Amino acid sequence: MIMLRFLTATDAPAVRRVYSGAATRFLGRSAMTSQEAGEYVSRVREWAAAAPVEQYVLGVDVSGDLLGVVKLGRRPSGHGRVSYVLREDRWGQGYATGAVEELVTFAFATAGLDSLGARHRPDNPASGRVLMKAGFTRVGEVNAMIEYRL
Ligand SMILES: CC(C)(COP(=O)(O)OP(=O)(O)OC[C@H]1O[C@@H](n2cnc3c(N)ncnc32)[C@H](O)[C@@H]1OP(=O)(O)O)[C@@H](O)C(=O)NCCC(=O)NCCS
Repeated sequence: MIMLRFLTATDAPAVRRVYSGAATRFLGRSAMTSQEAGEYVSRVREWAAAAPVEQYVLGVDVSGDLLGVVKLGRRPSGHGRVSYVLREDRWGQGYATGAVEELVTFAFATAGLDSLGARHRPDNPASGRVLMKAGFTRVGEVNAMIEYRL
């Protein structure tokens, strides 16, 4: 069962493993170092303590294994931006779709957002498939990225 949860300080090694290997290729970044992971988790925990929270970063936990991260950014207009990354060894098992579905529920029911958007690079069709399966609609292209709305 997929559970979205706030990150704790002890999640840094798992977050580093998520941001490694092929997963980073589509994010336009290099693999995270241990130090970067620790700093990132600290930052994320500060963001989670803000009121209101402007940037949610939630761990994708499956039976105690933190195998991904989903993000939800709040715009003042009530619009939210969704993104996600799964550890490479768990791709193709429906976890991103399940996590984004959970995030959509969280965005509307808990974060109180009115609409959502997401985008992916044209060379990342699996990401688009995740969004479509989670109920998003493709609306066009912006800055060479494929744009989706819900
Ligand atoms: C994109 C990503 C989140 C998908 O995670 P995942 O857990 O494998 O996703 P799911 O298993 O829920 O669904 C993947 C879907 O994409 C499909 N897919 C995989 N590769 C594909 C390809 N090359 N072309 C088209 N569809 C593809 C799968 O078949 C599946 O669809 P299906 O259930 O209809 O068969 C994961 O690959 C990832 O973390 N990538 C790196 C980070 C990233 O790209 N994040 C998104 C940034 S916009």
